[in-house]
Amino acid sequence: MLEVYAVPAVPAAGAPATVVLLVLVPWGPLPVAPLVPHAAPSSSAAETSAARAPSVGSVRARVSPWTEVGARSPKFIVRRIVFAPGEINTYGGGVEWYFQRYGDLELHRRMISDRARTDAFARALAEVVRPADVVLDVGTGTGVLAMLAAKAGAKQVHAVDRADIAEVARRLVRDNRLQKKVQVHQGMAADLTFPVKFDLIVSEWLGHFALVEGMLDDLCPARDRSLAEGGRMMPSEVQLMLAPVDDPVLYHRDGPGYWREPVHGLDFSGLEDVEMKQGRAAQLRVDVSSLLAPGRPLMHLDMTTVQPADPWRKGRLVFDVVRDGVLSGFCGWFVARLSPGVVLDTGPSHPDTHWAQTYVPFPPRVVRAGDRLSVGFVIDRDARERRQVQLALTVERKTMRYVLE
Ligand SMILES: C[S@@+](CC[C@H](N)C(=O)[O-])C[C@H]1O[C@@H](n2cnc3c(N)ncnc32)[C@H](O)[C@@H]1O
Repeated sequence: MLEVYAVPAVPAAGAPATVVLLVLVPWGPLPVAPLVPHAAPSSSAAETSAARAPSVGSVRARVSPWTEVGARSPKFIVRRIVFAPGEINTYGGGVEWYFQRYGDLELHRRMISDRARTDAFARALAEVVRPADVVLDVGTGTGVLAMLAAKAGAKQVHAVDRADIAEVARRLVRDNRLQKKVQVHQGMAADLTFPVKFDLIVSEWLGHFALVEGMLDDLCPARDRSLAEGGRMMPSEVQLMLAPVDDPVLYHRDGPGYWREPVHGLDFSGLEDVEMKQGRAAQLRVDVSSLLAPGRPLMHLDMTTVQPADPWRKGRLVFDVVRDGVLSGFCGWFVARLSPGVVLDTGPSHPDTHWAQTYVPFPPRVVRAGDRLSVGFVIDRDARERRQVQLALTVERKTMRYVLE
């Protein structure tokens, strides 16, 4: 399931030594303001982005079980936890298979034990739920958010899940003596109708890079049908972020650069390009020191108005490179505003979450501090599997395509 290992980083030898001229285009990054809490959060400010704006260039000391700088050679020994391929992120089996997976408690344990995630939702619910509120929890899983909403004082909570985990939620509602307030319904969110309108819809619909899993497709119709006039959404806003990465471990040890090394005297180097074209995206922890520039928002979703087709778009981002290095990939993540005071940031400079980050390799090229790196992007739904996301990134005339699953 999870693999922990210590690896020596391979220096970026062999990377092209040419300085690449970057083509600057007349349009700039999307006009999106960073998501920060509106008000100072109460107790654990450490888990909101106000206290942790991304810092690039200087490595912020982070103590975490996920990434740890070793004592022997602080620069080159990195411990990572890597999700085995297919372990948590393959949706090729279709809709029913997807819900079968969510019937499995192991997946829910993984989400609930993600403290940054679950604590952030708990704090946000405590902040925004009002005594007269009628709340809908879309994709309730174990019922955790529905029960937290009830404990935060909601008058009534309806909790919906298509997977058999709904039965578990019913049991937990009884175990916690919340059955007078929380009702669990098993079914597709888009199909259910309620005799009431909701003051608050809470939904942890976020897959990796936010959009993987495609839950937005069902959340939007449920919201349009059931949210009361002036009702609130949690999360209320979601931003997708992207940053250029120089990480020799990810590229040369775990990525296409591996093939540069001879295998028992045999030349495998032709496979670097082949593997690159396979468009592999990995869900793993990217160290903040790997970023060549601060992340920039690819898109901003207002959850009260967003429609299922809105995320699929193209655009261009311009990054201000802060240090010399070799661009060898990109790192994506999302930031979700849960309430005025709570922002869940899954970026590299924030506490670890089970989403980690999304890493995609890119053919290496030298960049210098002060460069403006212009990156075109196209983000689309996979034509065959709607829960997967296709991402294309272009630097100069080089376009790479990836499938996020
Ligand atoms: C990411 S989990 C979140 C579970 C829980 N809310 C939590 O925070 O631990 C998403 C849940 O939504 C459910 N789900 C996904 N799409 C759904 C849909 N269209 N209708 C109902 N449930 C759905 C899945 O079965 C899964 O249990």
